[in-house]
Amino acid sequence: MTSRESSHAPETVVVEAGRPQRSNGSSVNPPIELSSTFVGSGETDHGDYVYGRFSTPGWTPFEEALAELEHAALPGLVFGSGLAAIAAALSLVPRGGTLIMPRHSYQGSLEAAGEVAQRSGFRLATVDIVDTAVVVDALDDVEAVSAVLWIESPTNPMLEVADVPALISAARDRGILTVFDNTFATPLLQTPLDLGADVVVHSVTKYLAGHSDVVLGAALTNNEELHKRLHDERSLRGAIAGPFEVWLALRGLRTLSVRMERAQANAALIAERLSSHPNVTETRYPGLSEDPGHERAAAQMSGFGAMVAFCVETAQQATAVAEAVRVWTPATSLGGVESLIERRRRNASEAESVPDGFLRLSVGIEHADDLWNDLDAAIRAAHSA
Ligand SMILES: Cc1ncc(COP(=O)(O)O)c(C=O)c1O
Repeated sequence: MTSRESSHAPETVVVEAGRPQRSNGSSVNPPIELSSTFVGSGETDHGDYVYGRFSTPGWTPFEEALAELEHAALPGLVFGSGLAAIAAALSLVPRGGTLIMPRHSYQGSLEAAGEVAQRSGFRLATVDIVDTAVVVDALDDVEAVSAVLWIESPTNPMLEVADVPALISAARDRGILTVFDNTFATPLLQTPLDLGADVVVHSVTKYLAGHSDVVLGAALTNNEELHKRLHDERSLRGAIAGPFEVWLALRGLRTLSVRMERAQANAALIAERLSSHPNVTETRYPGLSEDPGHERAAAQMSGFGAMVAFCVETAQQATAVAEAVRVWTPATSLGGVESLIERRRRNASEAESVPDGFLRLSVGIEHADDLWNDLDAAIRAAHSA
């Protein structure tokens, strides 16, 4: 069942979706099914499952649950990583076409897009996704049938907020496909397919799975043709997920709503305190009333998420903060129960427009006071060193 048929709130859907049929004595949870091939003696009708690279019962409950959450009429497609789902979506840009992408997209997406653009022969145009007029100009500048607009909002790592309804409808009006990376917000905070996005991609690794113990991705669409193309990409390139990882992701999904609630509350408090910290030069969190993305986020999202960013004066200070924390873990990635901190420019591939002293926080579900005391002490120590 997809959520188009479900009348339940997302908080209920994360708990109830993808459960096995009920009968006396049946399992409450789907089993982990480990089989690479499935019995089929007929010449054409093999049933739902044929071979583990095409689809497998270990994926189905999670794919159905994700479709319900993202309001997709077709089952989700789980991939071996977020980047594998992104690579499949990039294959939708035809040779000679144009991909319009936010200049502050996830760095891996930008790198993959650059590489695929060269190999497949399409143009990659990066834009400031916050500036709607600039994006619309870029949409006017391309041949619609061969263009794709990529949206990330909030963006990774700058936490900029795009005018999502305006951009999706501008693309639709021109017949341009939209791919939306919904990793940061999750379907609990926004459902881009409802606004007319053609494809949603996820790094399931992050909030959906939620425990920093699996690497997985997913793609969702309402469009039968796009679904087939994405499914074929997965089957033919083989970027598939293991049934155990998908089972773990479904287990993690059960608590998405309570994790998000707590993490968002922690993020709001930490952002508020950072914004008045004497040694912090800038704080970015869409939930702050003074944040440039606040109004848009308040209008188009049902929460502000749990990613926060802030700047200290120098790269050295930022590194010292990340080295001094004890409750926070200095590590890349995001969306797990544990709070992570990372100086993004330590990655050589990060955009130069990301400031040197910029630290990205993935706020977890620990006690807010422990998180704040640890971070505050580390910032003060780094400043006076
Ligand atoms: C917004 C976003 N999209 C996609 C990805 C890639 O996902 P994965 O690491 O699961 O391949 C990431 C990873 O950090 C991300 O932050």
